[in-house]
Amino acid sequence: MAKVDIKYTKLFINNEWVDSVSKKTFPTINPHDESVITQVAEGDKADVDLAVNAAVKAFHRYSEWRTMDASQRGRLLNKLADLMERDSKYLGQLETLDCGKPVKTATGEALWSAQVVRYFAGKADKIHGNTIPADGPVISMTMKEPVGVCGQIIPWNYPIPMFVWKIAPALAAGCTIIVKPAEQTPLTALAMAALVKEAGFPPGVVNVVPGYGPTAGAALTSHPKVDKVAFTGSTEVGRIIMTAASQVNLKRVTLELGGKSPLVIFNDADIDMAAEIAHDAAFANGGQCCVAATRTYVQSEIYDKFVAKAAEVAKKRAVGNPFDDVHQGPQIDDEMFGKVMNYIKIGKSEGARCVAGGDRKGKSGYYIEPTVFADVKDNMKIAREEIFGPVQSILKFETFEEVLDRANDSNYGLGAGVVTNDINLAMNFVKHARAGSVWVNMYDYVTPQTPFGGFRDSGIGRELGEDGIQQYLETKTVTISLPKAQSK
Ligand code: NAI
Ligand code: MG
Repeated sequence: MAKVDIKYTKLFINNEWVDSVSKKTFPTINPHDESVITQVAEGDKADVDLAVNAAVKAFHRYSEWRTMDASQRGRLLNKLADLMERDSKYLGQLETLDCGKPVKTATGEALWSAQVVRYFAGKADKIHGNTIPADGPVISMTMKEPVGVCGQIIPWNYPIPMFVWKIAPALAAGCTIIVKPAEQTPLTALAMAALVKEAGFPPGVVNVVPGYGPTAGAALTSHPKVDKVAFTGSTEVGRIIMTAASQVNLKRVTLELGGKSPLVIFNDADIDMAAEIAHDAAFANGGQCCVAATRTYVQSEIYDKFVAKAAEVAKKRAVGNPFDDVHQGPQIDDEMFGKVMNYIKIGKSEGARCVAGGDRKGKSGYYIEPTVFADVKDNMKIAREEIFGPVQSILKFETFEEVLDRANDSNYGLGAGVVTNDINLAMNFVKHARAGSVWVNMYDYVTPQTPFGGFRDSGIGRELGEDGIQQYLETKTVTISLPKAQSK
């Protein structure tokens, strides 16, 4: 196991490292062996108050941040991206320690996240309103302004990308921020905070308050001085947050929530290629992925061959110590481990045919075998509920219309995919799938430029791309009286 230096464990408020007001700390756990990595300052309401006040001050109209040229905001973001690239190896190792994802993947995520920062760096001085041909003797235009103080609550499955998806557009827009990282993975958020400071962002622009959801998180979502909440996590907590955000004031809300995404494979597909796409779609990040395609629909002619291939690919997936060269590390914690193992038990008892995996891997750590169920029926729990673990459900279908209805029959609508060379099938699927992202002959390909988010219970709003920055802007309409000029 690599020795990873833990440099930051305190709250980051106003560009300072501080203990929590209560002096309380909480442990962060290594999912590989369930050991305590370190204690981290535990933020609660009093700390959130301090952080919000710092963010409010940093948002004052004459603050260094608010009077800074937009192009300079872009320069600071580019500097942050440089520092992330410089430290990508360290960030990756820290992530692997805290989150359990393979170190190569974690480092890749740090580098990819730097690209997201660069994308928004470029946007900072390209935020435009419109001029509008309004009725009457007037000139009308819109100005785009930062929404204000943003509370951003992120999950543990992609800690660095989620941190960046939240802060980068908000900073490009000129907002100030309080981030609450997930209690399972506070360490990289704090390491990122150190880079924010080093990049030269003024005090109070970005604050990071680790702590638990119902305490620190809830304090943020119900704070009267927070203008906007952005959240990624469970649909259940998304509902709580949306309610909280509407109580003391009316916060803008963006939510990126759960999913149970379908991937549809037609008879004409190359079975080996389709099985690989479907495997990655279901098992990426150990299935701990909001957009994971865990419902694999396969057309009847190729169904048996596909099931055999899917099982073969799953059995080859290397699961083990994430500091080794593996595809999959442990699940994040004992709670998720228990939840996923319970779904595997439910799948077996519902009568689905387990063709790969089906058990924990080893005797310690939160490792689970890549598990494939065939002959899954639409009404089974494993076909309806988000499992968030390495479990793929394969379902058989006959016709396009049938599979379209079945694929769309979910409260969620985050992702959908189709594998076929028939352009009519593909494009009709694209047109009718009720999901925020649809992929053709690939899956889960997300770039800084492309908006990401969900239909229905998968969320509200979009992150990344032009849509992503718009969620951090208010539109101000300015109308100026223009009477006829009198010549003197
Ligand atoms: P969660 O939704 O409880 O946690 C996500 C974040 O929200 C964490 O930072 C947490 O501290 C915070 N939070 C929790 N309760 C809160 C509250 N009342 N007010 C404000 N913030 C609060 O997700 P959890 O418990 O980690 O996982 C549960 C399920 O959620 C998973 O099994 C999975 O199905 C889903 N999930 C979805 C994710 C996604 O990417 N969309 C990410 C993580 C989990
Ligand atoms: Mg929770």
